[in-house]
Amino acid sequence: MPRKLVVANWKMHGNLNTNQHLLNGYIEKLSALTHVDVVVCVPYPYLAQAQLLLKNTNIAWGAQNLSKDTVGAFTGEVSANMLLDFGASYVIIGHSERATAYCESDENIATKFSQAKAHGLTPILCVGETLIEREAGVMEMVVAKQIDTIIHTYGASIFANTVISYEPIWAIGTGLAATGEQAQSMHKFIRNRIASFDEAAATSLKILYGGSVNPQNAVQLFVMQDINGGLIGKCSLSAHEFEAICQAANQSFS
Ligand code: PGA
Repeated sequence: MPRKLVVANWKMHGNLNTNQHLLNGYIEKLSALTHVDVVVCVPYPYLAQAQLLLKNTNIAWGAQNLSKDTVGAFTGEVSANMLLDFGASYVIIGHSERATAYCESDENIATKFSQAKAHGLTPILCVGETLIEREAGVMEMVVAKQIDTIIHTYGASIFANTVISYEPIWAIGTGLAATGEQAQSMHKFIRNRIASFDEAAATSLKILYGGSVNPQNAVQLFVMQDINGGLIGKCSLSAHEFEAICQAANQSFS
């Protein structure tokens, strides 16, 4: 099994004080983990703080969004190069909270994905279906469409060494995680879809699960063959809970 990847998504939480406390907790608790890669995606203003505290540790950092444009008159936007200035190596793209609240289209998300990749950032593309779509049995169709927009625009090879996070919208922040079997089935579907265009890209791709991962359900998710780790929201705001999740990932490495 490849190394697991666990990504903290702080969303719009934190301040200089609480961040310092939390990041120091991460450093103290996670530095001994050898079989898992850990990343924390912080709000933009705290990238400098993450860089200061995390450089020379085994924890990487990143952002939760980036501009689809490279430079120019785009008020309020943040470019890939700006993230690189602060040592970011990952960026979350197309999170459903953004897609719904800020009307991000699949086309915009695809452009952002290619911006990140072109600048040497590792994009973490979020995909997933609503509860209504799952109950209607069309979840694979929905997820395929989200991925296909990128494949059709840039080719499947763009997925080489990147990350997709399967995040069923009904599981995000609800306490109701997908079961290991539900997630594994979708992860396999995603990998097979990309493999049908580019086998090597599909093999090098990491597919995370996100949506109410906690210390209790992490093991049953991480033992699944196509689940390469997790994107963790709420539980990443506690160093103790985040450590337990990272431990579960570390232990499932074999
Ligand atoms: P959650 O968030 O762990 O709080 O459900 C996951 C996510 O939105 O990435």
